[in-house]
Amino acid sequence: MPQPPQKRLYIKTYGCQMNVYDSERMADVLRPLGYGLTDEPEGADLVVLNTCHIREKAAEKVYSELGRIRPMKDRKAEAGGAMTVAVAGCVAQAEGEEMMRRAPVVDLVVGPQSYHRLPELIARASRVIGERLAADFAPDEKFDALPKARQTAGYSAFLTVQEGCDKFCTFCVVPYTRGAEYSRPPEAIEAEARELASRGVREVTLLGQNVNAYTGGLATLVRRLARVEGLDRIRYTTSHPRDMDDDLIAAHAEVEALMPYLHLPVQAGSDRVLKAMNRGHTAEHYLKLVARIRAARPDIALSGDFIVGFPGETEADFQATLDVVREAGYAQAFSFAYSRRPGTPASAMLGQVPDEVKSDRLTRLQTLLESQQRAFNAAVVGRSLPVLFERPGRHPGQLVGRSPYLQGVHAEAPDHLIGQIVPVRITDAARQSLSAALELEVA
Ligand code: SAH
Ligand code: SF4
Ligand code: F3S
Repeated sequence: MPQPPQKRLYIKTYGCQMNVYDSERMADVLRPLGYGLTDEPEGADLVVLNTCHIREKAAEKVYSELGRIRPMKDRKAEAGGAMTVAVAGCVAQAEGEEMMRRAPVVDLVVGPQSYHRLPELIARASRVIGERLAADFAPDEKFDALPKARQTAGYSAFLTVQEGCDKFCTFCVVPYTRGAEYSRPPEAIEAEARELASRGVREVTLLGQNVNAYTGGLATLVRRLARVEGLDRIRYTTSHPRDMDDDLIAAHAEVEALMPYLHLPVQAGSDRVLKAMNRGHTAEHYLKLVARIRAARPDIALSGDFIVGFPGETEADFQATLDVVREAGYAQAFSFAYSRRPGTPASAMLGQVPDEVKSDRLTRLQTLLESQQRAFNAAVVGRSLPVLFERPGRHPGQLVGRSPYLQGVHAEAPDHLIGQIVPVRITDAARQSLSAALELEVA
């Protein structure tokens, strides 16, 4: 049978892991149509920008990338070919129409719930340049319609189990771009996990904007997946403090495959600010929760997200955030200056904080978080840890992988250990990564 002509697909991914997962699925849905991935937009037949709307900078990046793509599209046309430019993800969902006006280089805009319709949308776009469809679809329809077989490279994979958000934090666009909370059925998730394991995947990270709001209980799902042959490591992200139930905490004590790492954003330490953010928890509630989790799993690596300069945040409020950081203790964290997002309640609040104040607070917070991260990493030096080697490192003879605490680890090791979980002795620590030596002489 003649092979379909190979068309070149370039996908650029911005934003959260959900987008990384979605980009993989878009490549899967387009593969049967003859699209193969390329690392370069120049000369590509189809360019997909999978975008993020979470902060202003994230959204602006898309427009500058489109500016870079435009001459490439022109060159392709001059050479007698055609480049289709598609914008997917959360910017597409939030401002698709405006985008078509502002950037005529865009041929089509597709929201996160419509990726299974990409082949149709692309076919239509190539007929009528300028066709644009971003229809809303029920998420189950999306997952049912995506191909079952996934082509993942590597030994650690993302698996979306939950999408959307009903929390409506007042600063956040996600409830608007990703829609209502929706959990995939456990059978479908298990089938996907088995499929991944059959391809050699050893570790899955269960994804959801509020993954621990998973219907039926995330702990139940974790226990079910822990029984899948070949899956040795399970992680999940992102969790909301409100949905961290006793069963999930217990799972951290009981389920060996569940890794000792937890991303549990608090955002701020002042109860007044937390209330204005509509987080639904206080600082004390959060700290007590962390204490309960540590009681179940003393070595857990805690991670978090923080926002400084939320409208009305005073220096005293900011100090309360630093207090929570000191008390909770983080292995790793993400922190951001508040970004005013159109359409969200906080964007209309009084008391917007000046940029200089935000960046000053951000620097102070990051200094503290970085020192905690260094201390966390330094504390494992001399210890033996199992590392899942994922790929060759930068230097010849070196492999890189992850510790149970999600630390990047590099060690001199033979290539055949890629995809294996191997005990290593940690010899040195920096803020972002660890050096290690193999425990055993491996033949
Ligand atoms: N669902 C996740 C967060 C998704 S967004 C959760 O609830 O934890 C990832 C992070 O971006 C958030 O945790 C928050 O810290 C940050 N963020 C979201 N909106 C923001 C905004 N308007 N300005 C600055 N940071 C923001
Ligand atoms: Fe955004 Fe809050 Fe929902 Fe997280 S819980 S996605 S921060 S609205
Ligand atoms: Fe960004 Fe959308 Fe994820 S706004 S953080 S890509 S859910």
